[in-house]
Amino acid sequence: MYTEYYGLVRLPFEMTPDPSFLYLGEAHREGLATLVYAVNSGKGFVMLTGEVGTGKTTLLHALLGQLDSTTNSAFIFNPRLDPMGFFRMLFEELGVGPACGTKAEYLLALNQYLIEKLAANERVLLIVDEAQNLSTEMLEEIRLLSNLETPRSKLIQIMLVGQPELQVLVDQPELRQLRQRIALRHHLRPFDEVESAEYVSERLAKAGYTGRGIFKKKALKELYRVSEGIPRLINNICDGTLLLGYARQQTSLGPDDIREVAHDLGLVPKDEVENRDTTRGDEKPGKPRRRRRLLRFGR
Ligand SMILES: Nc1ncnc2c1ncn2[C@@H]1O[C@H](COP(=O)(O)OP(=O)(O)OP(=O)(O)O)[C@@H](O)[C@H]1O
Ligand SMILES: [Mg+2]
Repeated sequence: MYTEYYGLVRLPFEMTPDPSFLYLGEAHREGLATLVYAVNSGKGFVMLTGEVGTGKTTLLHALLGQLDSTTNSAFIFNPRLDPMGFFRMLFEELGVGPACGTKAEYLLALNQYLIEKLAANERVLLIVDEAQNLSTEMLEEIRLLSNLETPRSKLIQIMLVGQPELQVLVDQPELRQLRQRIALRHHLRPFDEVESAEYVSERLAKAGYTGRGIFKKKALKELYRVSEGIPRLINNICDGTLLLGYARQQTSLGPDDIREVAHDLGLVPKDEVENRDTTRGDEKPGKPRRRRRLLRFGR
C-alpha cells in the first residue's frame, strides 16, 4: 500500500465528493456562497455551470450539508429520465407518497405538498445535477414547475447544475422562457496555480501526512500545467504519481513523474516524456521500463 509508505492513514485522492476532504479555495468558496445565498434569498431558478470535473457535485454536497431542516431538498442526478420517471424520483427524494399514475396526478399532489410546506414556513429545493443531459422536453417540464407559486413567493426553488453545454442548451431560442426565469447564474472556474498546490497539500494532510512534502515545488507547477487546475484530473494524476513513487521507492516526486503519469492518462503528448532520465531509486541505467506492470500492483 502506498499509504503506509508515505505515512498516510487513508487514500488522499479518492474520486468521491467526500465532505471531509472539501477544500474551499477562492473559486469554490465563492461558488458555495453563491448557492447558499440563492437558496436563502428564495431565488426561484438558479444555474451553476463548470467544466467537467471542476467540483460542481462536490459543491452541491457541501451546500446540502449547510442547509437546515427547514429546507426539503430533492437531489436528482439522473436527468435522462422521462417526465414520469422524473416525478417518481422527485417524490421519492422528497419523501412524498404514494407514486401516482399520471403526470396530472403528480402535479396535483406536488402542489398540495408545496402549499403545506409553505404554510409550515419550509422551503422546497429541487437540484438537478448533470442537467446538460436534460432533454428539451424535460427542461420544459421543469420550467412549468417553476410556475407553481403564490402571488408572494415561489413554491419551489430549482437549481440546474451542469457542464458548459447546459449554458448552450438554455440559450437556444426555443427555451427563452426558461432562460428568462433564471435569476442567477454562476460559473465555477478551475483552481489557479496557488489553489492547486494548496489543494494537494490539504488533501495529503487530511490523509494523515505530516512530512515536509512529497511533491517537489516543480512537480506542483507541472501538475497545474497538465491538469489545468481541474480537481478530478489532479486527483487522478496525484494518485498515479504516488503509486509510481511507491513502486520505485521514491519518497519525493518531481515534474518528470507527474508528466509520465499524465502521459499515461492521455493528458500530455508522447514527445514530452520521451527523453526522461529514468535512472532513480533502485533502477539501474538502461533497465527497461516496467511501469505499467508496477502500476497494477495495487495501492
Ligand atoms: N473543492 C473541492 N474539495 C475537495 N475535493 C474536490 C473539490 N472539487 C472537486 N474535488 C474532487 O474532484 C472530484 C471531481 O469533482 P466533482 O465530481 O464534484 O466534479 P463535477 O464538476 O461535478 O464533474 P462532472 O462535470 O463530471 O459532473 C471529486 O470527486 C472530488 O474528489
Ligand atoms: Mg458532477
